[in-house]
Amino acid sequence: MHRRPRRNRSSAAIRGMVQETHLTVNHLIYPLFLVGGSGVKNEIHSLPGNFRLSLDNILREIEECMSLGINNFILFPAIPEDKKDKTGTHSYNPSNFYLKAAIAIKARFPECCLISDVALDPYSSDGHDGVVRNGKIVNDETVAILARMSVAQAESGFDLIGPSDMMDGRIAAIREALDENGFTDTGIMSYTAKYASAFYGPFRDALDSAPKSDSNIPKDKKTYQMNPANRREALIEGELDTAEGADFLMVKPALNYLDVIHVMKENFELPIAAYHVSGECAMLIAACQNGWLEYEKAMPETLLSIHRAGADAILTYFAKDFAKMVAGKY
Ligand code: PBG
Repeated sequence: MHRRPRRNRSSAAIRGMVQETHLTVNHLIYPLFLVGGSGVKNEIHSLPGNFRLSLDNILREIEECMSLGINNFILFPAIPEDKKDKTGTHSYNPSNFYLKAAIAIKARFPECCLISDVALDPYSSDGHDGVVRNGKIVNDETVAILARMSVAQAESGFDLIGPSDMMDGRIAAIREALDENGFTDTGIMSYTAKYASAFYGPFRDALDSAPKSDSNIPKDKKTYQMNPANRREALIEGELDTAEGADFLMVKPALNYLDVIHVMKENFELPIAAYHVSGECAMLIAACQNGWLEYEKAMPETLLSIHRAGADAILTYFAKDFAKMVAGKY
């Protein structure tokens, strides 16, 4: 045998020298769930170790995460039912606590990168990412609202706008609205290939944002989120988002879609983000709680795999634990 690949695995020193992929906290984005009030820290039962936090606790959490080296955060709001309506008007109302929270976060931590969520579902009485008319999610009317929401978020200091709605043409509309209002430096992290996945359950629990059960409201998001069976279609979305002015192309979920992450990385020059979604994290947590997997090994391997597939940035509920492990504080 002339070729013995095991020679390059024979010591930790050699393995370190030939390691192809390195994951650091710089690659990670930590999702945070904001609720009103103060002193609130309410665990999400389907995502143990993750909480709905009021602004005071969010500020504390960000401070702790930044001391561990995490600089990127994505913020999601749990909006009270009485503020929801069919067209999500509260999303751009200056009294919206989500917008006020962003102002407070950026005042306290100007150096962090704060990413928003743009979609109607947190604000929609129908629980959809767009406006529902006669049982259909209408595209263009929704896009106008998303653009308005994005400008309100940029005004509040978000560094990156995160459209998670999957309406057609929204990146161009948002880019144009941001530029017209002087926010030429505010970027867009587009949910480019977001699939109609079964793995968003814990997130919808956290925000109470699932589609409402009413015969006139579609029960699922399949007319706008992508079919899990399709990969080539992600390239169409990638071309459009690139042409329309996105700064990041996101694939979501991550783990069940590593091939999609890979093909996006091969085909586009923009940075690729991957959303390691709530259900994917919940599966691993559940297995570890049962003693079936070892968290300290399985979790970093999972994140590394998403990075190896081609994701530059990873949105993950494990960001803080990963940072603690790297710092030797876990
Ligand atoms: C909705 C949105 C969802 C997630 C992020 N933004 C859920 C959905 O599309 O229903 C899911 C994230 C997760 O599961 O961690 N705009």
